[in-house]
Amino acid sequence: MTDAVQHLNLPPGPLDRHTINADPASLPVLARLTAEHGDIVCIHSKDRPHPSFFLNDPEHIRQVLIGNHGNYVKGVGFERVKMLLGNGIITSDGEFWRRQRTMMQPAFGRGSVARLSINVRDHNRELVPEWGKLADAGTTLNITAAMSHYGLEVILRSIFSTDLPRLVRESSPFAFLAEDPTRDIRTVLKVRELGRVILDCIRARRASGDRPYDFLSLFLDARDKKTGAAMSDEELLDELKTLIIAGHETSAGTLNWTWYLLHHHPDVKARLLEEIAARLPGSSWKYEEVMALDYMPRVLKETLRLYPPVWLFSRRAVGADRLGDYDVPAGAHIFISPYLFHRNARYWPEPERFDPERFAAPDAEEKERLHFIPFSAGSRRCAGEFFSFVEMQVHLAMLAPLYDLACVSEAPMSIDPAINLRSQSGIMMRISRRLPVASPT
Ligand code: HEM
Repeated sequence: MTDAVQHLNLPPGPLDRHTINADPASLPVLARLTAEHGDIVCIHSKDRPHPSFFLNDPEHIRQVLIGNHGNYVKGVGFERVKMLLGNGIITSDGEFWRRQRTMMQPAFGRGSVARLSINVRDHNRELVPEWGKLADAGTTLNITAAMSHYGLEVILRSIFSTDLPRLVRESSPFAFLAEDPTRDIRTVLKVRELGRVILDCIRARRASGDRPYDFLSLFLDARDKKTGAAMSDEELLDELKTLIIAGHETSAGTLNWTWYLLHHHPDVKARLLEEIAARLPGSSWKYEEVMALDYMPRVLKETLRLYPPVWLFSRRAVGADRLGDYDVPAGAHIFISPYLFHRNARYWPEPERFDPERFAAPDAEEKERLHFIPFSAGSRRCAGEFFSFVEMQVHLAMLAPLYDLACVSEAPMSIDPAINLRSQSGIMMRISRRLPVASPT
């Protein structure tokens, strides 16, 4: 500990040292430290000269993410993401981030996502006969792998639309993203290789003047309001890589846990199916009808409460700040864990219980605002939040009424809290037809 730090009023914390990262060893440490020391914990580390603050108090979290967000930049872990993705909007900060986010934001708006949802629906339509074949063959489905492929396909179609068939003609250069759960140096090299494929596609699209409705066209035509400049090819490349990684694993992970939780909560599954039958009769429903459902988004939110894919994220204090009575020195590392924050019994009674009705309670809106952060909060809140609900809701609306998925094993599945929160292994499910013959139009 440096002299300067010794004179500060730091929060309570352990005497022993810990280096917190988004890895499986850190979750039990953080759970224990917050149980022992409270909602703000100061942790010293052998590897980091500045102290780390672990926050579990809603006021402190809001101050870092919203109230005084200008004092905090992306922190520990994001340098690794930067190696993988370059300077896309997840990792960038300051003026460059603001410019990129402002240029990209319209693509994530409700009207734009509604148009992009056509690709999402098309892909789910293709899954119907595929899942039918699996059901008829009595095959078990690795739903974890299936959702990973689903998430990847959805984001790729939303980015490249008409160019995608050409990009994946012989073998998909993207396939490893759904298959390889490790994020080691080999992944970095493969993502770099992928960069060449994407860059060729950007250049060809720019030159052709073709503008099918997809993220690539929207970003190509986006202009900086102040200067009128477009993004360079390299900037676009980093943003597209960012979208592919940020967009596919998170929604895929949520759907993986949703299918698992529906199996373990037949009452919730029955109610979800009732809602789909009552509100989306037949198969020719409209997009607006899916997005107007009430119970389905509650099921998804409750899944995100229990299994937030981004279970830990970090910030770095640029200047000094105060959180409650405590001093935050410049350079301090800040850690926030949606996973642990969502399991605080003070805000979420019986936190381990899966109960979508929490999100229908009279105080639900207030709770969501203060105690629910699967998408973070403030200006760095997830850009793809609405998009993810569209891809998750369209998927459930189309497949859940046709097929029943039942876990092969009743044993509870443990979590793997690495960069994203995954299931410890692939969840195997028996798939069977619910209706004799049905195909959505
Ligand atoms: C259930 C699904 C998802 C979850 C739980 C999720 C969660 C998050 C979280 C927690 C952050 C902020 C991290 C931080 O503050 O350090 C974030 C940022 C981001 N997410 Fe998502 N995400 C999801 C889906 C998506 C999808 C589908 C897309 C793209 C289509 C996407 C694109 C982004 C982008 C671009 C950012 C960076 C925003 C910025 O810093 O300006 N996400 N996401």
